[in-house]
Amino acid sequence: MGGVEFGRTFFFGTNLKMHQTASETVAFLDGLAESLALDDPRMQYFVLPPFTSLAAVAQHFARPALWIGAQNMHWAASGAFTGEISAPMLREFDLDLVMLGHAERRQHFGETDATVHRKIRAAFDHGLRVLLCVGESAADHTEGRGIERVRSQLRSALEGVSVEEARALLVAYEPVWSIGEAGVPAELDEVASVVDAMRNDLDERFGLEVRPPVLYGGSVDRTNCGAFAAIPAIDGLFVGRAAWSVAGFAETAARTRAARFGDAG
Ligand code: PGA
Repeated sequence: MGGVEFGRTFFFGTNLKMHQTASETVAFLDGLAESLALDDPRMQYFVLPPFTSLAAVAQHFARPALWIGAQNMHWAASGAFTGEISAPMLREFDLDLVMLGHAERRQHFGETDATVHRKIRAAFDHGLRVLLCVGESAADHTEGRGIERVRSQLRSALEGVSVEEARALLVAYEPVWSIGEAGVPAELDEVASVVDAMRNDLDERFGLEVRPPVLYGGSVDRTNCGAFAAIPAIDGLFVGRAAWSVAGFAETAARTRAARFGDAG
């Protein structure tokens, strides 16, 4: 791991969810390699394909210009867990990161703060970089408990994580009510205050030297990416639907980069 200057680099990535076969992912990444200025040291791009694409991608695609990660993993190294994938299995693909705690995992597959915590422990034990997702539900949001909920998700997920381990941590704030087809884009000032609260907690927890990057996600697209990217406390954007085509990814990334760094790149 390494090569990225945390605190300076702006992250931009997509979670492909349950989209793309292995050959489609290879074509997608080839398209990105042609369309993106992958040598811009200010930007770190990443793509999280389905597990079944990882072998083809690991063999095919030259990194580190574009990080490749997994969308989930189990906390055990091996065992009677039918249908699951473990950290040592992911390690063999030399991945750059593993996402843990995505809202859809929590919502549809029964993941809790406790299981997310176990997975984070396992990921760090196996030397994987972690992208931890947190975000409040619609009910928490309308009832004014958003920030508290996010802070408690962070607290339980990161319990026992050392300062050294936190150097390999990224966090994404994704309000559940803002994710996916039915999602509503969040107000900028609301996002800024949640991210500020997260930043304060992370600084308190790990000190000012580590500063894990905090990304924002949830209905980010080509029209609103610039406004989110201009929020100074945000270190990256995590995009779903809008970045699932080469053109969508490239245009949203270009607009993000322009808004963040004030150039057309
Ligand atoms: P979306 O997905 O951009 O399609 O809302 C975001 C996510 O689930 O990370």
